[in-house]
Amino acid sequence: MFLLNRHPEYGQPLAEEDAATLGLAGAEEAERFLAARDNHAETPLHALPALAGELGVGTLHVKDEGKRLGLGSFKALGGAYAVMHLVLEEAGRRLGRAVDVAELHRPDVKAVAAGMTFACATDGNHGRSVAQGAGLVGAHSVIFVHSGVSDERVAAIARFGAEMVRIAGDYDQSVREAARVAAERCWTVVSDTSWPGYERIPGLVMQGYTVIVREALKHLPEPPTHVFLQAGVGGFAAAVAGHLAVMLGADRPTAIVVEPARAACIYATAKAGHPVAIAHSKPTVMAMLECYEPSLVAWRVLSRLGDAFMTVDEKDAVSVMNRLARPSGDDPAIVSGESGGAGLAGLIRAASDKKTRAALGLDAHSRVLIINSEGATDPRRYAELVGMAPDEVANARLPA
Ligand SMILES: Cc1ncc(COP(=O)(O)O)c(C=O)c1O
Repeated sequence: MFLLNRHPEYGQPLAEEDAATLGLAGAEEAERFLAARDNHAETPLHALPALAGELGVGTLHVKDEGKRLGLGSFKALGGAYAVMHLVLEEAGRRLGRAVDVAELHRPDVKAVAAGMTFACATDGNHGRSVAQGAGLVGAHSVIFVHSGVSDERVAAIARFGAEMVRIAGDYDQSVREAARVAAERCWTVVSDTSWPGYERIPGLVMQGYTVIVREALKHLPEPPTHVFLQAGVGGFAAAVAGHLAVMLGADRPTAIVVEPARAACIYATAKAGHPVAIAHSKPTVMAMLECYEPSLVAWRVLSRLGDAFMTVDEKDAVSVMNRLARPSGDDPAIVSGESGGAGLAGLIRAASDKKTRAALGLDAHSRVLIINSEGATDPRRYAELVGMAPDEVANARLPA
Protein backbone atom coordinates (compact mmCIF):
# COMPACT_ATOMS: atom_id res chain seq x y z
CA MET A 1 0.00 0.00 0.00
CA PHE A 2 1.24 3.44 -0.86
CA LEU A 3 -0.33 6.83 -0.25
CA LEU A 4 0.80 10.40 -0.91
CA ASN A 5 -0.01 12.90 1.80
CA ARG A 6 -3.19 14.85 1.02
CA HIS A 7 -3.79 16.25 4.52
CA PRO A 8 -4.90 19.92 4.61
CA GLU A 9 -1.92 20.76 6.87
CA TYR A 10 0.58 19.06 4.54
CA GLY A 11 3.47 21.38 3.71
CA GLN A 12 2.61 23.82 6.54
CA PRO A 13 5.33 24.79 9.01
CA LEU A 14 5.52 22.75 12.21
CA ALA A 15 3.20 23.79 15.05
CA GLU A 16 5.06 26.14 17.41
CA GLU A 17 5.38 23.58 20.22
CA ASP A 18 6.72 20.91 17.84
CA ALA A 19 9.21 23.32 16.29
CA ALA A 20 10.45 24.01 19.83
CA THR A 21 10.67 20.30 20.70
CA LEU A 22 12.46 19.31 17.50
CA GLY A 23 14.45 22.50 16.89
CA LEU A 24 18.13 23.24 17.23
CA ALA A 25 18.15 24.24 20.91
CA GLY A 26 16.39 21.02 21.94
CA ALA A 27 18.68 18.88 19.81
CA GLU A 28 21.75 20.57 21.28
CA GLU A 29 20.42 19.91 24.76
CA ALA A 30 19.88 16.24 23.91
CA GLU A 31 23.43 16.07 22.62
CA ARG A 32 24.78 17.71 25.78
CA PHE A 33 22.98 15.18 27.98
CA LEU A 34 24.34 12.38 25.86
CA ALA A 35 27.88 13.67 26.14
CA ALA A 36 27.51 13.40 29.94
CA ARG A 37 27.02 9.64 29.65
CA ASP A 38 29.97 7.31 30.08
CA ASN A 39 29.32 4.88 27.28
CA HIS A 40 28.42 7.46 24.67
CA ALA A 41 29.82 7.20 21.15
CA GLU A 42 28.40 8.32 17.82
CA THR A 43 26.86 5.47 15.84
CA PRO A 44 28.39 4.57 12.46
CA LEU A 45 27.09 5.90 9.16
CA HIS A 46 27.73 3.39 6.36
CA ALA A 47 27.71 3.98 2.61
CA LEU A 48 26.24 1.06 0.64
CA PRO A 49 27.20 1.77 -2.98
CA ALA A 50 26.50 -1.74 -4.27
CA LEU A 51 22.94 -1.78 -2.95
CA ALA A 52 22.41 1.81 -4.17
CA GLY A 53 23.38 0.60 -7.66
CA GLU A 54 21.00 -2.36 -7.48
CA LEU A 55 18.15 -0.08 -6.47
CA GLY A 56 18.92 2.55 -9.08
CA VAL A 57 19.54 5.41 -6.67
CA GLY A 58 22.59 7.67 -6.49
CA THR A 59 23.76 6.99 -2.95
CA LEU A 60 22.50 5.02 0.01
CA HIS A 61 23.64 5.64 3.58
CA VAL A 62 22.62 3.61 6.61
CA LYS A 63 22.99 5.08 10.08
CA ASP A 64 23.40 2.06 12.35
CA GLU A 65 21.61 2.59 15.65
CA GLY A 66 22.24 -1.01 16.63
CA LYS A 67 25.39 0.33 18.20
CA ARG A 68 23.72 2.94 20.43
CA LEU A 69 24.72 3.12 24.11
CA GLY A 70 24.99 -0.62 24.54
CA LEU A 71 21.19 -1.00 24.24
CA GLY A 72 21.04 -2.10 20.64
CA SER A 73 18.54 0.47 19.39
CA PHE A 74 17.95 4.19 18.86
CA LYS A 75 15.46 4.04 21.73
CA ALA A 76 18.45 4.43 24.04
CA LEU A 77 18.36 8.12 23.10
CA GLY A 78 14.77 8.85 24.12
CA GLY A 79 13.50 7.35 27.37
CA ALA A 80 16.76 7.73 29.29
CA TYR A 81 17.07 11.36 28.18
CA ALA A 82 13.53 12.12 29.36
CA VAL A 83 14.21 10.46 32.74
CA MET A 84 17.40 12.50 33.23
CA HIS A 85 15.57 15.70 32.24
CA LEU A 86 12.70 15.05 34.64
CA VAL A 87 15.03 14.29 37.55
CA LEU A 88 16.93 17.54 36.97
CA GLU A 89 13.68 19.50 36.79
CA GLU A 90 12.44 17.98 40.05
CA ALA A 91 15.81 18.58 41.71
CA GLY A 92 15.66 22.18 40.48
CA ARG A 93 12.23 22.63 42.08
CA ARG A 94 13.36 21.10 45.39
CA LEU A 95 16.71 22.88 45.57
CA GLY A 96 15.34 26.19 44.34
CA ARG A 97 17.87 26.63 41.52
CA ALA A 98 18.61 25.36 38.04
CA VAL A 99 20.40 22.00 38.19
CA ASP A 100 22.73 21.04 35.35
CA VAL A 101 23.28 17.58 33.89
CA ALA A 102 26.85 17.68 35.22
CA GLU A 103 25.35 17.62 38.74
CA LEU A 104 23.42 14.37 38.35
CA HIS A 105 25.79 12.56 40.64
CA ARG A 106 25.74 15.09 43.48
CA PRO A 107 24.29 13.55 46.66
CA ASP A 108 21.45 16.11 46.94
CA VAL A 109 20.39 15.47 43.33
CA LYS A 110 20.71 11.70 43.81
CA ALA A 111 18.50 11.94 46.88
CA VAL A 112 15.77 13.56 44.78
CA ALA A 113 16.13 10.86 42.09
CA ALA A 114 15.93 8.10 44.69
CA GLY A 115 12.44 9.28 45.59
CA MET A 116 11.18 9.13 41.99
CA THR A 117 9.64 6.19 40.12
CA PHE A 118 9.34 6.16 36.34
CA ALA A 119 6.86 3.89 34.58
CA CYS A 120 6.25 3.04 30.96
CA ALA A 121 4.81 0.46 28.64
CA THR A 122 7.05 -1.08 26.04
CA ASP A 123 7.41 -3.53 23.19
CA GLY A 124 10.97 -3.93 24.44
CA ASN A 125 13.31 -1.18 23.38
CA HIS A 126 11.76 1.90 24.98
CA GLY A 127 11.48 0.16 28.35
CA ARG A 128 15.16 -0.73 28.19
CA SER A 129 15.96 2.95 27.78
CA VAL A 130 13.73 4.14 30.62
CA ALA A 131 15.15 1.44 32.90
CA GLN A 132 18.70 2.33 31.92
CA GLY A 133 18.05 6.05 32.53
CA ALA A 134 16.48 5.38 35.93
CA GLY A 135 19.41 3.12 36.87
CA LEU A 136 21.85 5.80 35.81
CA VAL A 137 20.36 8.49 38.07
CA GLY A 138 19.43 6.17 40.96
CA ALA A 139 15.64 6.33 40.47
CA HIS A 140 13.17 3.41 40.35
CA SER A 141 11.50 2.10 37.22
CA VAL A 142 8.45 -0.07 36.66
CA ILE A 143 8.09 -1.36 33.12
CA PHE A 144 4.85 -2.79 31.73
CA VAL A 145 5.03 -5.37 28.96
CA HIS A 146 2.24 -7.05 27.03
CA SER A 147 1.77 -10.74 26.32
CA GLY A 148 3.70 -10.63 23.04
CA VAL A 149 7.01 -9.38 24.47
CA SER A 150 9.58 -12.18 24.49
CA ASP A 151 11.17 -13.43 27.73
CA GLU A 152 14.57 -12.42 26.33
CA ARG A 153 13.40 -8.84 25.93
CA VAL A 154 11.91 -8.81 29.44
CA ALA A 155 15.19 -10.12 30.89
CA ALA A 156 17.15 -7.46 29.00
CA ILE A 157 15.09 -4.71 30.68
CA ALA A 158 15.12 -6.29 34.14
CA ARG A 159 18.92 -6.30 33.97
CA PHE A 160 18.85 -2.55 34.64
CA GLY A 161 17.05 -3.08 37.94
CA ALA A 162 13.53 -2.39 36.68
CA GLU A 163 10.48 -3.96 38.25
CA MET A 164 8.67 -5.80 35.44
CA VAL A 165 4.88 -6.10 35.14
CA ARG A 166 3.43 -8.36 32.45
CA ILE A 167 -0.17 -7.69 31.47
CA ALA A 168 -2.61 -9.72 29.40
CA GLY A 169 -3.37 -7.89 26.16
CA ASP A 170 -1.46 -5.88 23.59
CA TYR A 171 0.81 -2.84 23.49
CA ASP A 172 -2.00 -0.27 23.60
CA GLN A 173 -3.49 -1.99 26.65
CA SER A 174 -0.10 -1.97 28.35
CA VAL A 175 0.13 1.80 27.69
CA ARG A 176 -3.24 2.32 29.39
CA GLU A 177 -2.36 0.04 32.31
CA ALA A 178 0.97 1.80 32.92
CA ALA A 179 -0.81 5.17 32.95
CA ARG A 180 -3.53 3.89 35.30
CA VAL A 181 -1.19 2.35 37.88
CA ALA A 182 1.21 5.29 37.71
CA ALA A 183 -1.61 7.77 38.39
CA GLU A 184 -2.69 5.70 41.43
CA ARG A 185 0.85 5.54 42.85
CA CYS A 186 2.07 9.04 41.88
CA TRP A 187 4.74 7.68 39.55
CA THR A 188 5.90 9.58 36.46
CA VAL A 189 4.93 8.02 33.15
CA VAL A 190 7.65 8.29 30.51
CA SER A 191 5.79 7.16 27.44
CA ASP A 192 7.05 7.17 23.86
CA THR A 193 3.51 7.77 22.69
CA SER A 194 1.28 10.76 23.43
CA TRP A 195 -2.42 11.31 23.86
CA PRO A 196 -4.68 14.32 24.56
CA GLY A 197 -3.29 16.20 27.55
CA TYR A 198 -0.05 14.15 27.65
CA GLU A 199 2.44 15.58 25.22
CA ARG A 200 5.39 17.09 27.01
CA ILE A 201 7.20 13.91 28.12
CA PRO A 202 6.75 12.07 24.79
CA GLY A 203 8.04 15.31 23.24
CA LEU A 204 11.21 15.01 25.35
CA VAL A 205 11.58 11.39 24.26
CA MET A 206 11.37 12.51 20.62
CA GLN A 207 13.82 15.34 21.29
CA GLY A 208 16.31 12.70 22.38
CA TYR A 209 16.02 11.00 18.96
CA THR A 210 17.08 14.19 17.11
CA VAL A 211 20.69 13.32 17.94
CA ILE A 212 20.55 10.73 15.12
CA VAL A 213 19.96 13.53 12.60
CA ARG A 214 22.67 15.76 14.04
CA GLU A 215 25.24 12.99 13.76
CA ALA A 216 24.09 11.95 10.27
CA LEU A 217 24.18 15.50 8.86
CA LYS A 218 27.69 15.96 10.24
CA HIS A 219 29.01 13.00 8.25
CA LEU A 220 26.90 12.78 5.10
CA PRO A 221 28.80 14.15 2.11
CA GLU A 222 25.58 15.94 1.04
CA PRO A 223 22.17 16.22 2.70
CA PRO A 224 19.77 13.43 1.73
CA THR A 225 17.02 13.84 -0.84
CA HIS A 226 14.94 10.95 0.57
CA VAL A 227 14.55 9.36 3.97
CA PHE A 228 12.53 6.18 4.58
CA LEU A 229 11.43 5.98 8.21
CA GLN A 230 9.89 2.98 9.93
CA ALA A 231 7.04 3.71 12.32
CA GLY A 232 5.33 2.19 15.31
CA VAL A 233 3.47 5.06 16.98
CA GLY A 234 5.38 7.50 14.73
CA GLY A 235 7.62 9.23 17.29
CA PHE A 236 10.86 8.17 15.60
CA ALA A 237 9.70 9.14 12.09
CA ALA A 238 8.36 12.48 13.32
CA ALA A 239 11.51 13.34 15.27
CA VAL A 240 13.80 12.55 12.34
CA ALA A 241 11.62 14.20 9.67
CA GLY A 242 10.99 17.15 12.01
CA HIS A 243 14.61 17.88 12.84
CA LEU A 244 15.65 17.42 9.19
CA ALA A 245 12.99 19.98 8.21
CA VAL A 246 14.13 22.45 10.88
CA MET A 247 17.76 22.12 9.80
CA LEU A 248 17.32 21.97 6.02
CA GLY A 249 14.18 24.08 5.46
CA ALA A 250 13.01 23.99 1.85
CA ASP A 251 15.82 21.53 1.05
CA ARG A 252 14.48 18.94 3.45
CA PRO A 253 14.36 15.40 2.08
CA THR A 254 11.19 13.67 0.96
CA ALA A 255 10.09 11.71 4.03
CA ILE A 256 8.38 8.35 3.55
CA VAL A 257 6.82 6.64 6.55
CA VAL A 258 7.02 2.83 6.41
CA GLU A 259 4.95 0.44 8.52
CA PRO A 260 4.21 -3.29 8.66
CA ALA A 261 1.03 -4.00 6.68
CA ARG A 262 -0.23 -5.81 9.79
CA ALA A 263 0.05 -2.73 12.03
CA ALA A 264 -0.24 0.34 9.84
CA CYS A 265 -1.88 2.89 12.13
CA ILE A 266 -0.11 5.92 10.64
CA TYR A 267 -1.09 4.82 7.13
CA ALA A 268 -4.71 4.45 8.26
CA THR A 269 -4.51 7.82 9.99
CA ALA A 270 -3.14 9.48 6.85
CA LYS A 271 -5.91 7.91 4.82
CA ALA A 272 -8.61 9.03 7.26
CA GLY A 273 -7.04 12.48 7.69
CA HIS A 274 -7.19 12.24 11.50
CA PRO A 275 -5.76 9.90 14.18
CA VAL A 276 -7.46 6.52 14.13
CA ALA A 277 -7.01 3.31 16.10
CA ILE A 278 -6.95 0.31 13.79
CA ALA A 279 -8.25 -3.20 14.33
CA HIS A 280 -5.75 -5.68 15.70
CA SER A 281 -4.33 -8.11 13.23
CA LYS A 282 -1.94 -11.05 13.40
CA PRO A 283 1.35 -10.29 15.19
CA THR A 284 4.06 -8.93 12.91
CA VAL A 285 7.67 -10.07 12.86
CA MET A 286 8.47 -6.33 13.10
CA ALA A 287 7.51 -6.56 16.77
CA MET A 288 8.69 -3.08 17.74
CA LEU A 289 6.43 -1.54 15.10
CA GLU A 290 3.32 -3.39 16.25
CA CYS A 291 1.24 -0.39 17.32
CA TYR A 292 -2.39 0.22 16.56
CA GLU A 293 -2.78 3.90 17.51
CA PRO A 294 -0.51 6.77 16.46
CA SER A 295 1.12 9.19 18.86
CA LEU A 296 -0.76 12.49 18.74
CA VAL A 297 2.38 14.65 18.65
CA ALA A 298 3.94 12.41 16.01
CA TRP A 299 0.89 12.65 13.78
CA ARG A 300 0.79 16.46 14.13
CA VAL A 301 4.36 16.51 12.75
CA LEU A 302 3.86 13.81 10.10
CA SER A 303 0.61 15.33 8.79
CA ARG A 304 2.79 18.32 7.78
CA LEU A 305 6.07 16.63 6.88
CA GLY A 306 5.29 13.04 5.89
CA ASP A 307 5.33 13.12 2.09
CA ALA A 308 4.13 9.56 1.66
CA PHE A 309 3.00 6.57 3.72
CA MET A 310 3.54 2.95 2.77
CA THR A 311 3.49 -0.57 4.14
CA VAL A 312 5.81 -3.55 3.86
CA ASP A 313 5.10 -7.23 4.32
CA GLU A 314 6.53 -9.79 6.71
CA LYS A 315 8.79 -11.31 4.07
CA ASP A 316 10.17 -7.87 3.18
CA ALA A 317 11.39 -7.40 6.75
CA VAL A 318 13.09 -10.79 6.89
CA SER A 319 14.60 -10.37 3.45
CA VAL A 320 16.13 -7.02 4.41
CA MET A 321 17.70 -8.50 7.57
CA ASN A 322 19.35 -11.14 5.42
CA ARG A 323 20.37 -8.68 2.74
CA LEU A 324 22.07 -6.47 5.34
CA ALA A 325 23.75 -9.47 7.00
CA ARG A 326 25.12 -10.72 3.68
CA PRO A 327 25.60 -7.63 1.55
CA SER A 328 26.43 -7.21 -2.12
CA GLY A 329 29.86 -6.24 -3.38
CA ASP A 330 32.00 -4.42 -0.85
CA ASP A 331 29.07 -3.03 1.13
CA PRO A 332 29.54 -3.47 4.88
CA ALA A 333 27.49 -6.10 6.70
CA ILE A 334 25.00 -4.64 9.17
CA VAL A 335 23.20 -6.46 11.99
CA SER A 336 19.60 -5.34 11.66
CA GLY A 337 16.90 -6.65 13.98
CA GLU A 338 13.35 -7.46 12.90
CA SER A 339 12.12 -3.86 13.04
CA GLY A 340 15.42 -2.14 12.27
CA GLY A 341 15.43 -2.53 8.51
CA ALA A 342 11.79 -1.73 7.76
CA GLY A 343 12.74 1.67 6.30
CA LEU A 344 15.13 -0.04 3.90
CA ALA A 345 12.43 -2.59 3.07
CA GLY A 346 10.26 0.38 2.12
CA LEU A 347 12.97 1.78 -0.15
CA ILE A 348 13.44 -1.61 -1.82
CA ARG A 349 9.70 -1.85 -2.51
CA ALA A 350 9.42 1.73 -3.71
CA ALA A 351 12.49 1.46 -5.93
CA SER A 352 11.18 -1.64 -7.67
CA ASP A 353 7.90 -0.04 -8.72
CA LYS A 354 7.94 2.42 -11.63
CA LYS A 355 4.91 4.39 -10.48
CA THR A 356 6.17 4.73 -6.89
CA ARG A 357 9.62 5.81 -8.12
CA ALA A 358 7.98 8.52 -10.20
CA ALA A 359 5.67 9.63 -7.37
CA LEU A 360 8.66 10.01 -5.03
CA GLY A 361 11.11 11.38 -7.60
CA LEU A 362 13.44 8.46 -6.85
CA ASP A 363 16.13 8.21 -9.52
CA ALA A 364 19.82 7.76 -10.16
CA HIS A 365 20.53 11.15 -8.53
CA SER A 366 18.68 10.42 -5.29
CA ARG A 367 20.66 10.39 -2.05
CA VAL A 368 18.80 8.10 0.32
CA LEU A 369 19.21 7.99 4.09
CA ILE A 370 18.05 4.95 6.05
CA ILE A 371 18.30 4.42 9.77
CA ASN A 372 18.81 0.88 11.00
CA SER A 373 16.87 1.45 14.21
CA GLU A 374 17.92 -1.73 15.99
CA GLY A 375 20.54 -4.45 16.01
CA ALA A 376 19.90 -7.97 17.28
CA THR A 377 17.87 -6.84 20.31
CA ASP A 378 16.35 -10.32 20.50
CA PRO A 379 19.39 -12.43 19.55
CA ARG A 380 17.57 -15.77 19.43
CA ARG A 381 14.93 -14.44 17.04
CA TYR A 382 17.61 -12.71 14.95
CA ALA A 383 19.58 -15.95 14.65
CA GLU A 384 16.47 -17.84 13.51
CA LEU A 385 15.58 -15.27 10.88
CA VAL A 386 19.04 -14.92 9.33
CA GLY A 387 19.93 -18.59 9.71
CA MET A 388 22.81 -18.22 12.15
CA ALA A 389 23.69 -20.21 15.23
CA PRO A 390 22.72 -18.26 18.38
CA ASP A 391 26.34 -18.10 19.60
CA GLU A 392 27.36 -16.53 16.28
CA VAL A 393 24.89 -13.71 17.01
CA ALA A 394 26.10 -13.27 20.56
CA ASN A 395 29.43 -12.16 19.11
CA ALA A 396 27.80 -10.77 15.98
CA ARG A 397 30.54 -8.71 14.60
CA LEU A 398 29.71 -9.42 11.01
CA PRO A 399 32.62 -8.64 8.72
CA ALA A 400 33.14 -4.86 8.75
C1 LIG B 1 13.77 -0.70 16.62
C2 LIG B 1 12.63 0.23 16.51
N1 LIG B 1 12.44 0.87 15.35
C3 LIG B 1 11.42 1.74 15.19
C4 LIG B 1 10.52 1.97 16.22
C5 LIG B 1 9.38 2.90 15.98
O1 LIG B 1 9.36 4.02 16.80
P1 LIG B 1 8.00 4.77 17.09
O2 LIG B 1 7.15 3.87 17.92
O3 LIG B 1 8.40 6.02 17.77
O4 LIG B 1 7.36 5.00 15.76
C6 LIG B 1 10.70 1.32 17.45
C7 LIG B 1 9.77 1.53 18.56
O5 LIG B 1 9.84 0.90 19.59
C8 LIG B 1 11.78 0.44 17.61
O6 LIG B 1 12.04 -0.18 18.76
